[in-house]
Amino acid sequence: MKNITLNTEAQMPIIGLGTFLAAPGETYQAVRWAIKLGYKHIDCAAAYGNQTEVGQALHDAFAEGDIKREEIFVTSKLWNDSHAVEDVRPACEQTLKELQLDYLDLYLMHWPVAQTKGTGMPKNDEDWIPLSQIPLWETWAEMEKLYNDGLTKAIGVSNFNEANLNLLIEKDQVVPAVNQVECHPLLNQNELIAFCRKNNIAVTAYAPLGAQRSGGSLLENNVVADIARRTKATPAQVLLAWQLQRGIIVIPKSVHEDRIRENYASLVVELDAADIRRLDELNENHRFFDGSAFENPAKGYDKIF
Ligand SMILES: NC(=O)c1ccc[n+]([C@@H]2O[C@H](COP(=O)([O-])OP(=O)(O)OC[C@H]3O[C@@H](n4cnc5c(N)ncnc54)[C@H](OP(=O)(O)O)[C@@H]3O)[C@@H](O)[C@H]2O)c1
Repeated sequence: MKNITLNTEAQMPIIGLGTFLAAPGETYQAVRWAIKLGYKHIDCAAAYGNQTEVGQALHDAFAEGDIKREEIFVTSKLWNDSHAVEDVRPACEQTLKELQLDYLDLYLMHWPVAQTKGTGMPKNDEDWIPLSQIPLWETWAEMEKLYNDGLTKAIGVSNFNEANLNLLIEKDQVVPAVNQVECHPLLNQNELIAFCRKNNIAVTAYAPLGAQRSGGSLLENNVVADIARRTKATPAQVLLAWQLQRGIIVIPKSVHEDRIRENYASLVVELDAADIRRLDELNENHRFFDGSAFENPAKGYDKIF
């Protein structure tokens, strides 16, 4: 399976290139390599600060005939400081400008948190806007207008739990096409995935390789390493193939050509039922991104997850 059909009927390639922490000077080349190696999906965000380089790479890839616009799926995300009604469209337009595109394939609300203009990670109390002042559905209604006006072919969310998804679904507005959440064998998200499937929402796994943050490397996990040895795949390919075989979209990030190639080749790795069961059993609800930095109960943001 190479594509997932979204609730808009659009086809979303099941593997894409992640760009979080792709440094200036590295991002351009990573996107060019990925497209040449067969990737047809790039995951971006305004907050990553590197969309201009992604845009230049897309522009040059189109100009040099590597791929056509309609053959590649580009996702971006609305940052938390642009949830106000008057800020949503300008934020999307700025992203389109940076990416040198006329439309996005998917635009996500990055976090279910509204912040004041110009803030990155919230630090001081005044960085949050109370949820009562900008409810999630109000921002979502503005995103629906972007969808209706053709600035994006689909809209979705990221880091939404079941309760937050229900807020949008129950309002009887456009159902999010995608929920992008952290997901890997230590956090298999089975319950949230089941809920999303019931509501026709596709799931994208971020940090599918465990993000290589502090707290131990998932690539060195004994079970993952053992399956890799037996299947003659690499640990990264095992982690990705596990998701692909259960219909979860993956967006591994790398700025190295060999790893970008290796990750894409997970499409041809086949795990048997026993391997899949062993990976399923690794779940311990461990998060590398626990969301606590965005919590502020006094402003209406209790548990993010
Ligand atoms: N919605 C959200 O809130 C959210 C949050 C986090 C991430 N994301 C998205 O999800 C994407 C993926 O998540 P992530 O970047 O946090 O983590 P990830 O893809 O799980 O891991 C990326 C790390 O693994 C390394 N790596 C990549 N391929 C490898 C391989 N084959 N072997 C060994 N190491 C490898 C990369 O290093 P090199 O680059 O040096 O190769 C990088 O350090 C992001 O880039 C972003 O697009 C979204």
